[in-house]
Amino acid sequence: MDPENLSHEPAVELSPTRRSFYIKFIYGAMTAIGAALAVPAGIYLLFPPKARKEGDYVEAADLSRIPVGTPEEISFQRTRIDGWKVTSEKATAWVVKTADNQVTAFAPQCTHLGCAYHWDQPTNNFVCPCHTSAFSVDGKVLSGPAPRPLDKYMVKIQGNKLAIGPLDTHA
Ligand code: FES
Repeated sequence: MDPENLSHEPAVELSPTRRSFYIKFIYGAMTAIGAALAVPAGIYLLFPPKARKEGDYVEAADLSRIPVGTPEEISFQRTRIDGWKVTSEKATAWVVKTADNQVTAFAPQCTHLGCAYHWDQPTNNFVCPCHTSAFSVDGKVLSGPAPRPLDKYMVKIQGNKLAIGPLDTHA
């Protein structure tokens, strides 16, 4: 027996065709994994949450339950978006409905320093307990340190439902 043949097995070499197939397969797999990670990451970073559109207006009250001429405090769930974080939180508004079904929804904070005001039935005014600002039923300042009328939400009436939107910055 030839001693040289016992000590060395011939090396297994891949044919050029098989090697190129494995290289292409590895690159293809890496590309597929990269795309699978990049597409959701790109969508997350480039597109705002869908709730931003849907959260603009929320159904807040049944208008048939709101008395005419007397403000009613209502509460509703609203979606808040902080960057990419979407949270649902309780919000309130003072709603005033007129005889001709015109509706105003006031933000619940006093325009002085943000205290919660309330409707005072004996005086027919909104009254803030913190520094005694008073507002008329249409939100105008009657007295006190409040520098401007009550803030209003944008509203939509859909049938008998009241939908409340963001603060009306043009009011
Ligand atoms: S916070 Fe309402 S009067 Fe000051």
